[in-house]
Parts: sequence; structure tokens; C-alpha cells
Amino acid sequence: MAPHARFHLRSAADLAAEAGRLGLDIPYRDDISILLEKASFGGRATPNRLAVLPMEGADAEPAGSPSEWTLRRYRRYAAGGAGLIWCEATAVRADGRSNRSQLLLTEETLGGFARLVEATRAAARKEWGAGHDPLLVLQLTHSGRFARPDGTPRPLIVQNNPHLDPLRDIPPDAPLVSDGELAAIRDDFVEAADLAASAGFDAVDIKACHGYLVSETLAAHGREDSRYGGPFENRARLLLEIVRRIREEAPGLLITSRLPATDAVPFPYGFGMDPDAPDKVDLGEAKALAGLLARAGARFLALSLGIPAWRPHLGRPFDRPVPGGPVPPEHPLEGVARHLAATTEIQGSSPRTPVVGAGLSWLRALGPGVAAAMVAAGRGGAFALGRGALACPDFAADLIRRGRLSSRKVCTTCSLCSLLLRRQERVGCVVRDPEYRHAADDGGNA
Ligand SMILES: Cc1cc2nc3c(=O)[nH]c(=O)nc-3n(C[C@H](O)[C@H](O)[C@H](O)COP(=O)(O)O)c2cc1C
Repeated sequence: MAPHARFHLRSAADLAAEAGRLGLDIPYRDDISILLEKASFGGRATPNRLAVLPMEGADAEPAGSPSEWTLRRYRRYAAGGAGLIWCEATAVRADGRSNRSQLLLTEETLGGFARLVEATRAAARKEWGAGHDPLLVLQLTHSGRFARPDGTPRPLIVQNNPHLDPLRDIPPDAPLVSDGELAAIRDDFVEAADLAASAGFDAVDIKACHGYLVSETLAAHGREDSRYGGPFENRARLLLEIVRRIREEAPGLLITSRLPATDAVPFPYGFGMDPDAPDKVDLGEAKALAGLLARAGARFLALSLGIPAWRPHLGRPFDRPVPGGPVPPEHPLEGVARHLAATTEIQGSSPRTPVVGAGLSWLRALGPGVAAAMVAAGRGGAFALGRGALACPDFAADLIRRGRLSSRKVCTTCSLCSLLLRRQERVGCVVRDPEYRHAADDGGNA
């Protein structure tokens, strides 16, 4: 690993030189037109291959409905021209909320979600015309060990984990969620998917990454005497049961899942790690899971890496950590290359299922050229931005109209959006969006 460094690349030539110096595979092409072409995800046409990744906003109403702040974020993404808009992690039941302002989809809040869909589609139509209809995905989740439904930790854990338990002061012998309770949560996912279809979403994403409940079952090697722990077949069961049941009960709804290529927690406490070398990544199970998901009915997939509460740099390569957080032990371009390699491998193993990768915001204005090279080589399905979309919600419009991103509008990977989420405050770009700039003054730089 090379020492951490801040972004200093001015051109594609600089990027190639830095990748060469670090021995990394970072493809690039100047021609980004492939990202702007119409595409299809799971048989649903999209106006382009430009995607907004799910980004929790912590700005829901107390009952879990989208607020005016939530609507503002999605209107901006839609007016900004993105062809796929991945709405953020939304709890399927109250005890699964990550904070008291996380979205929660129930019969009671359904109307609010229908308004969110309508407002998003209307904003896209107004700016781009009736033919421009972005694919809208709603990500469904239960926060499991990271649940804080009333603002304080209320963990629901699948297995005891010496690496993750200390993050929430969970004692090593804390009681585990029962198989019966996991089956009940499975049913809640199915019910929420039904509601998402009624609200007008095109697709639901079963969130299976970042250490939350479903992803914890994938890693539950040590969970004994359980249908949802031990061998791979059992660990994959909860996710596959959710997908199969949704396919049966909501046949018109597209299904996707955001997987951890690896959560990077050492074996036997993590997913995607080598049993013979516990700290070494092994993508074998992620590839197998991608194949099983496609057979169960998932029509496209998304990927992430790591657990943000544990090693945030794995999922989101950055220049600056959250104030007070450690500087990562690697160069951010190494983190970007790890994302690209994981997307390449999993897309290669499931060539007919588009795979949406992540981790490109650190590249700023060079991101589209890298994504275009990935898509052109069949190594991934889209150019997708998380933090970059929060900073520049009209990044797609800039690519469509100007052919490039403006370096004055891109994400600076300062981690202040992560700080807001950690503080359970409404999330936005502290650097680029005046509505959130206050966070830079009141401790953001502490
Ligand atoms: C503030 C914040 C909120 C996030 N919320 C979600 C979420 O709701 N669901 C999810 O799967 N990932 C979430 N992520 C991860 C992003 O989707 C994305 O994977 C990550 O930021 C890396 O991509 P990027 O380099 O384009 O930002 C979040 C990240 C941040 C910083």
C-alpha cells in the first residue's frame, strides 16, 4: 500500500502516470458517449447510463415520510438528467431505522413515497421532455446492528463479532436475533416491496451491504443451529428468500440488490474473505451470490465494499476523513482500483446482469472517462456517483450538454456529508450547497 495522498490530478495523463506509479489498473477513454446513450436495465429502458447512487439524507418526517428536504434532493437529481436514480436506504420497519430521520415505508407513509415518485418524474419531464423517464429504484433495508430508531443504539445482531461489536458497545455474549424474527423481517421486506410498487417505483433494491442486517447474515459463518448461518447456502438464504418472494408477489416490479463484494471484516466474521488467509479478500462467494440472485429474479446488481462505520475509506475513498477520524492506510487511488477490480470480476462472472459499481467520486472530473472505459470493455454497467451527485446533482446534464464535469462543481471528498449522517442531521453537500454550508462553521472543521 502507498501512503495516503490528496487529489492532485489535472488530466488523464496525470491519472495514467499515477496509476502506473502505483501499479494499478485504471482504464480511461476520452470518448464518454457510451454513457450518454439510451440503455436498458432489467428490460427497462433508461435515457442514459448515468446513475445516482443511494445516499441517506436523514431528513424524513418523524413517521418516515419524505420531507420537503427529501423531495428537494430527488427533484434536483431528476432535473439534473440522471437516467437511474437510486433512492436511499429506506427502513422496512420502525426498529430497523438507522436514525430517527431515516425514511420508513409503511401503509401510513405510502402517500409520501407516491408524492416523491411523482415529484421526481415531474422534475425530469419538465427539464428534459416527456421521453426522459429515469428508472427509479427504492433501496429497502433493516439496519440490524446499526439500528438507532429513536436516536440511540438498539442493535439487532445476527452473530457476535469481535471486530464490530465494540463500535456500538455490544457485549460479546449479546443475544442474537432468532430465525423466527429473521423470517418476520423477510416478510416485512416483501410487504415494503409491494408498497414501493404501489408508490410507483420501477424497482426495489434489497440492501445487502455495509454490515446492516441482511449483509450480516451473509457473513454469519459462526451462527449455529440456524437456517440463516453457517454454510454459504444458509448465509445466502435470507437474501434469496426475500428476492424470490418479491418476484412472486410483485411480478411487475424489478428487483436488484446492493451486495458487498467483500465487507473486509476478517474471516470468520466477514463476507468475502479467504478462510485460509482471514485478512485476504476472496470474491468467490460474491460471484456465486450474484449468479444465484440473477437466477432468483434480480435483473441488475449494485456493489459496494466494506462497512462505513468500521473502515469508511474502503467504500468511499477520500481526501479527508470525518473530523477526528483516522487517515486511511492507503492511497485513495488504490481504493478506487479495488472498486473497479471488484466490479470487473463480478460483472465478468454474470455478464448478462448489469452491475453498477461505486467509489468513483474521488476521481472528480476524471470519473466519467474511467466509467466510459469500464462500460465499453463490458466491465460494468453505468457511471454512478454517490457523494459526487450530492455535490453536483446536475452532473448528468453537464456531461450531456458540455461533455465534461466542471472541476468547480465536483465533490471534494471532504467527508462532511458523512459527518452530518453520523450526527443524524439532514445530509447535503457542505462545500457546494449553500443550504448545508452551516455545517462547515459549527464543527465541520473541528
Ligand atoms: C452520506 C452518505 C450516505 C450514504 N447512504 C447510502 C445509502 O443509503 N445506501 C447505500 O447503499 N449506500 C449509501 N452510501 C454509500 C454511497 O452510495 C456510495 O457507495 C459511496 O459514497 C461511494 O461512492 P462515491 O465515491 O460515488 O461517493 C452513503 C454514503 C454517504 C457518504
